[in-house]
Amino acid sequence: MKRSIILGTGSYLPKKRLTNFELSEHLDTSHEWIVERTGICARYIAAPDEFTSDMAVKASKNALEMAGVDPQDLDMIILATSTPDHTFPATATRIQAGLGNTKGFAFDQAAVCSGFIFALATADAYLKQGMATTALVIGAETMSRILDWKDRRTAVLFGDGAGAVVLGAESNTDKGIIGSFLRTDGCGYDDLYVTGGPSTTQTVGTIHMNGQEVFRHAIHKLEEAVEEILKKYSIKKEELDWLVPHQANKRIIDATAKKLGLPDEKVIHTGADQANTSAASIPLALDQAIRDGRIRKGDLILCEAFAGGFAWGSNLIRI
Ligand code: ACO
Repeated sequence: MKRSIILGTGSYLPKKRLTNFELSEHLDTSHEWIVERTGICARYIAAPDEFTSDMAVKASKNALEMAGVDPQDLDMIILATSTPDHTFPATATRIQAGLGNTKGFAFDQAAVCSGFIFALATADAYLKQGMATTALVIGAETMSRILDWKDRRTAVLFGDGAGAVVLGAESNTDKGIIGSFLRTDGCGYDDLYVTGGPSTTQTVGTIHMNGQEVFRHAIHKLEEAVEEILKKYSIKKEELDWLVPHQANKRIIDATAKKLGLPDEKVIHTGADQANTSAASIPLALDQAIRDGRIRKGDLILCEAFAGGFAWGSNLIRI
């Protein structure tokens, strides 16, 4: 049985860091409110001429360097994003060109904040089937471009950035992606969506969120996402070394960690500094914790996310 192995990780954050204090100069909010309700202190904002593909290429180059993989040796690139450069073609093809890759195939996948979880599961299936041998999975977002900066209920929550993972296929190993759990429920569509789109308004639109409803569902569905995957692969909670969650809200992360009985030292938090970077938040957190030496070879990690759609899921990985 083949396993999809993580060969390298990389990430990129834009130069501009916007603090809660700076935000509250133009918006009826406060640092105290934002920290108390979300744990967020700051976020990074892409430069006006910086696109999702630019950030993704930078994160990917870091990941390829760590993996020691030549970009030409990639035969699959998946970009998880809700903020593509253009409606079409797939932004992943622009990343492919930016990396100098002329082989294989590249496509975008949309599951909002759960995008990386879905993309990793997709890449894993392709690698196990032998449809690819070396894959690049990226989460990259310019959430700042789909925010209504006058809406304090959403403007304070999001940030920009990119994270990437290079995967290879290996046989006879206990390392790699053990499995994934994916779910969606379209009944939650109206609680979290972007108001524009090519087939509806012919505009890009801005984020609309019923925060309390989303919060309620997130707590409940994430419990399912972590419990079901552990049950399916016969892993005990105590065996987990790290929780690498999507960084929507510290209160949601704390609730999931509590269910798992994991102390805060075993949870990777990046939300205070980076806010919610949607599909980018998990690979950003993973890269940070691998590079600073917290997550080590052999560690068992659980990634989880809840998103608009609703879409939620988890990946269980032995590093
Ligand atoms: N500053 C100050 N006051 C605010 C702000 C703000 N930035 N935002 C809202 N308020 C006010 C509201 O107007 C309201 O005031 P009112 O009672 O006078 O009407 C009050 O604060 C409480 O508002 P709530 O919405 O009830 O605040 P809540 O405690 O629910 O926190 C939050 C809001 C942080 C959005 C929370 O609901 C949440 O985290 N929801 C889940 C987000 C999430 O997980 N999203 C999924 C991923 S995102 C994706 O997929 C793209």
